[in-house]
Amino acid sequence: MICDKLKDAINAQINAEMYSSYLYLSMSSWFEKKSLKGCASWMKIQAQEELCHAMIFYNYLIERGGVVELDVIDKPKYDWNDVLDVFEHVYRHETHVTCLINDLMTCAIEEKDHASAAFLQWFVTEQVEEEAAAEEIIAKLKLIGSDTAGLFAINGELAARTFVMPLPLSGKI
Ligand code: FEO
Repeated sequence: MICDKLKDAINAQINAEMYSSYLYLSMSSWFEKKSLKGCASWMKIQAQEELCHAMIFYNYLIERGGVVELDVIDKPKYDWNDVLDVFEHVYRHETHVTCLINDLMTCAIEEKDHASAAFLQWFVTEQVEEEAAAEEIIAKLKLIGSDTAGLFAINGELAARTFVMPLPLSGKI
């Protein structure tokens, strides 16, 4: 049985992951408006992944005998200055999520909940990838600057992303 402190923290994380999904879907719709279909597709897949992250926490909480308490999801931002502004927001948001995951890990360690610490390790690694992916796109966007051909090239590159079910969820939904 999971302790109340971790139960509450995981419920808050379910909400944070749902919000991430909402935010990235909002970014996807912004790209649709700009006719940047590749960026829109990349962001929609990102939104799907975040929903999976929420479900991984949801499944884990139930598995540990905790009560899931779903909360209101905040309204995400829906307009940005330019493509770079969007991806810089992604990076800032992911560093925030990394802090949340680190706080969860600290809580698990303090509560001597080794099962939760082992469970959370997947998210620690995932956050390294999430931040690196956003940083790489930002670096490319800074290189291409205001070059339209470069923007269409990166749009095509991002279109190639495919959805991969996160490992902790495979076979569970
Ligand atoms: Fe669920 Fe992008 O972290």
